[in-house]
Amino acid sequence: VAALDTPGSLQGRSVLVTAGPTREPIDAVRFIANRSSGRMGFAVAGAAAAAGATVTLIAGPSEQPTPPGVQRIDVETATEMHAATLERAGDVELFIAAAAVADYRVAQPADHKVRKSDAPPTLSLVRNPDIVGDVAALPTAPFTVGFAAETHDVIDHARAKLTAKGLDMIAANRVGEGLGFEVSDNALDVLWAGGHQRLGPMAKDRLAAALIELIGAHCHAER
Ligand code: CTP
Ligand code: CA
Repeated sequence: VAALDTPGSLQGRSVLVTAGPTREPIDAVRFIANRSSGRMGFAVAGAAAAAGATVTLIAGPSEQPTPPGVQRIDVETATEMHAATLERAGDVELFIAAAAVADYRVAQPADHKVRKSDAPPTLSLVRNPDIVGDVAALPTAPFTVGFAAETHDVIDHARAKLTAKGLDMIAANRVGEGLGFEVSDNALDVLWAGGHQRLGPMAKDRLAAALIELIGAHCHAER
C-alpha cells in the first residue's frame, strides 16, 4: 500500500539504460564477447521502473528476464548499441550506462565461416565508439551515469573516467577473483564531482535499488 501512496525517487522520469555484453563478429558463426551477465544493468533498469520511471533498456545478448514495466530493445554489437542509444538519449532525463561494451571490434569480419583448413587468421581490431561519452557530450545531454569495472586502483580509475567522459556520476566496482561479473553479490563506490558513497556489498537487486535512490537524489538536486 505504501508503494501506491509514495511516489518513487524517479516518479515520472524518463530513463534509458544499457546493459549486458556486446558481441563483435569474427565470421558468420563466431564472435568476441566478455563475461558480463547483464544482471546488474537489468537490476538497475528494474529498480528505476519500480521507482516510478519510464524505462527503456538497450540490452546486449543476455539470459536475464526483462524486468516488469521495462521496454527492452535487443542489440548485439557495440555499433548497434551505440546507434540505438544515441537515437533516444536526447529525449530522456537520465542515462545509465551499465553495459560491458566491447572496446574493439574486428575490422573486417568474414561473411562466411572461416575454415580451419584456411591459413590461421590474424584478427585486426578497431576501437568501438564510446557510447556513454558520446551521450554526455550531447548538447541536450541527460543526467549521465557510467559504471567502471576495475581490477585495481578502483577509485582512481573511476574518478579519471568520470572526468574524461564528462559524466555526472560513476559507479565503480571491483572485478576479478569471484567479484563483479557472473556473481550475485556486489559493492559499488559511487563518485560524483562533489562526493563519494560506498554501497554494499549486497545482492545485486538491493544494490540496484540503493543506486537508483542515490541517483534520484542527485538528479533532482542538479536538474
Ligand atoms: N562504455 C561505453 N561505450 C564503450 C565503452 C564503455 O558506453 N565503447 C561505458 C560503459 O558502459 C561504462 C563506462 O563506459 O559505463 C566505463 O566502461 P569501462 O570499460 O570501465 O571503461 P573504458 O572507458 O572502456 O576504459 P577501460 O576498458 O580501458 O578501463
Ligand atoms: Ca572498456
